[in-house]
Amino acid sequence: QTIYLSDYTAFGWRVEQVSLHFTLAPSATRVRSRIAFAPNADAPAQPFFLHGEALTLISARIDGQDITPDVTAEGLTCTVPDSAFVFEAEVEIDPAGNTALEGLYMSNGMYCTQCEAEGFRKITYYPDRPDVMAVFDVTIEGDLPVLLSNGNPVSTAQGRAEWHDPWPKPAYLFALVAGDLVAHPGSFTTRSGREVALNLYVRPGDEGKCAFGMQALKDSMKWDEDVYAREYDLDLFNIVAVDDFNMGAMENKGLNIFNSSAVLASPETSTDMNFERIEAIIAHEYFHNWTGNRITCRDWFQLCLKEGLTVFRDSQFTADMRSAPVKRISDVIDLRARQFPEDQGPLAHPVRPDRFQEINNFYTATVYEKGAEVIRMLKTLVGDEAYAQAVQLYFDRHDGDAATIEDWLKVFEETTGRDLAQFKRWYTQAGTPRVSVAEDWADGTLTLTFTQSTAPSAASPDPQPQVIPIAVGLIAPDGAEVATTRVLEMTEATQRFAFDGLAQRPVASILRDFSAPVVLDHPDADPAHLLAHDTDPFTRWEAARTLARRSLLAQIRDGAAPDEAYLDGIHRVATDRSLDPATRALMMGAPGQSELAGVLAEHGETPDPMAIHAALEDMRAAMAARFGGDAMMLYAENTVTEAYAPDAAQSGQRALAGVMLSLMTRGDNGTAAQAQFDHADNMTQKLGALAQLITAGRGDAALAAFEDRWRDDRLVMDKWFGLQVARAQPDDAADVAQRLTAHPDFNWQNPNRFRAVFGTLAMHHAGFHHASGKGYALLADWLIKLDPLNPQTTARMCSAFQTWKRYDTERQKLMKTQIDRILATPGLSRDTTEMLTRIAGA
Ligand code: ARG
Ligand code: ZN
Repeated sequence: QTIYLSDYTAFGWRVEQVSLHFTLAPSATRVRSRIAFAPNADAPAQPFFLHGEALTLISARIDGQDITPDVTAEGLTCTVPDSAFVFEAEVEIDPAGNTALEGLYMSNGMYCTQCEAEGFRKITYYPDRPDVMAVFDVTIEGDLPVLLSNGNPVSTAQGRAEWHDPWPKPAYLFALVAGDLVAHPGSFTTRSGREVALNLYVRPGDEGKCAFGMQALKDSMKWDEDVYAREYDLDLFNIVAVDDFNMGAMENKGLNIFNSSAVLASPETSTDMNFERIEAIIAHEYFHNWTGNRITCRDWFQLCLKEGLTVFRDSQFTADMRSAPVKRISDVIDLRARQFPEDQGPLAHPVRPDRFQEINNFYTATVYEKGAEVIRMLKTLVGDEAYAQAVQLYFDRHDGDAATIEDWLKVFEETTGRDLAQFKRWYTQAGTPRVSVAEDWADGTLTLTFTQSTAPSAASPDPQPQVIPIAVGLIAPDGAEVATTRVLEMTEATQRFAFDGLAQRPVASILRDFSAPVVLDHPDADPAHLLAHDTDPFTRWEAARTLARRSLLAQIRDGAAPDEAYLDGIHRVATDRSLDPATRALMMGAPGQSELAGVLAEHGETPDPMAIHAALEDMRAAMAARFGGDAMMLYAENTVTEAYAPDAAQSGQRALAGVMLSLMTRGDNGTAAQAQFDHADNMTQKLGALAQLITAGRGDAALAAFEDRWRDDRLVMDKWFGLQVARAQPDDAADVAQRLTAHPDFNWQNPNRFRAVFGTLAMHHAGFHHASGKGYALLADWLIKLDPLNPQTTARMCSAFQTWKRYDTERQKLMKTQIDRILATPGLSRDTTEMLTRIAGA
């Protein structure tokens, strides 16, 4: 059943107040609800309907009178008075049997909830839609030391706690946690003087992994005051770490619930990348307090209203806390790896979709990351000051609202006087625009002719030209910048822009700072010159990337040798001490195998996964040869001698040293890696060394030692599982994954562990696409097994098949066979059915 944006109608009643009473028991929790309804004069007449799924109704009353409602698998209907009334119900639910991790469930003996998007209906009967906002009072009874819900505590006693959340909220922001937990406390004073108690609740034993997350929370609170003038609005802010969680984290009002992988950190157990991700996710969930909670979404089609904006805000935060260029480049790498394949394949959908079957399938890179890019473009187009003004108007005008993308765009139109009708296509049209640029040089004038086109897709059969901000600078032959960055505003299918008064023909630096999420085609580009001289960190990095891509494509297509000019340029950059180590490490990264497959497919060629894999191997070998002894020199130079700190400077050094170690390993068979593994006092270096040892074929002893040391730490063991798949040879990857599923610690019902093995296999391009089809078959076996227990995680992992049409007919057939086999499974979930049907329909 498909739900359409155009069918939106308001709910017929307002909820004035909700009281919930929980009596906790693992397989028989009782939930009593008391909901005060009043007719909504603004809504069309409709039958009274409350969502409810997997609930056992014990009793129901209206205004104190027992009723017998009509109950279906989706909810409940009954006749109600014309004026205000109180609905009461008692239901029984089974948290211990809830393996879908949606609604109220149990994880390691602890009760917790995940209600976004539509999980509250698995807790009690309710209008489970984001435009119904209400004040919640919650009482929890249970024999556990910690009993938490949203808002402020009203009373706490042994076995009983009462909570009051003064801020009206939709049901998806409801949360409850109960367990044997310990708090890592902290505090924050808002700029208007409110004392906020902060707690990070974890399982006993994890206390030592809380300090970093707590500091990240304080930094986020301060940043949102400084940059967006947003203050926290309760006396208490709690974060809880949970081991079994489908996604990263959840912004429940005053009670954020986190996948433990997204909050727990220590130098011994977490990598630099883990620290950075944790800081960003804590910020993200905290920022939702305003962009998501105080202002929420009218309906789930508007998901990007809160997610795109909040991702954009957390990217600004990370840029401020760490290095802005490094953050920008990393985000582009991620966008190309995750969002471009989505936008260029059968799952393509607009940033604001207009139809869905299962909303959980739309928590995508397009809604989140492209949604953030759209806001970045808006800011680029209107300027920083107008952006700030518009956003403040948005907060003033819509505080307490369930808003839409139209509301969001309107504050920009009003503050700037701009017509954003065409810009809105970024929200309503699917597909990645391809922008090609041709250069023309005459009489001191450089003319750039841009052409944009977007491939039609099922979601957008007839795409129209979009507003594309293209940031351009010009570099003279001697390396001087002759024109600083200017943002060209492209609105037509084809459009010319001229730069005149130039003494010599310059080299154009186009799409600086990645000013729009497009694919740029620039045949006249001079990447070698830009790599040497560009002032914009992004386009300079992109120049290195372009040279690498050109070399790799020539290697793949014609069996050419790795490009010497590229290797020289990269060597020069890597040894350029005026550049920070993090940037140098990024410059040395080659495009991934899947990205190369995508580039070939875009050119109408059939990618051969083994040829792509071989080309990258040759490239790395040539690079190791080109660096020679300089690798060891740079390794030594970037070895951190101070105590470990997860900051930008140190992690940049470790990243560059890590790249050098990989080059050294080709020459020394893992001697340096073994030394690093033996002596490292932090996970970044341990894991980096372990990866190299596996590659060198000398990983067994280190893997065993690692397992021995960390067998009781789930998050570290996730790395152990994942790394073995990631570093396997293409022929072996599926077999390694299969072997790991027989390991006693392969708890496949835990999403982190399942993803450590199968998410990694799906990302092992040459291994997953092994010509035998064994990668496809193994993944399909396990998706079939997981689906009845956890449809959400199963459906998300189906995206491994989204690129199936790129490959040769034999591989297509192999993948299609598995897609069809999964689809033919009796009782397959709505989530997985929708994903695979869309994928197969390409
Ligand atoms: N709102 C959460 C976030 O962006 C994501 C939760 C989505 N969960 C889900 N099951 N769909 O941080
Ligand atoms: Zn979010």
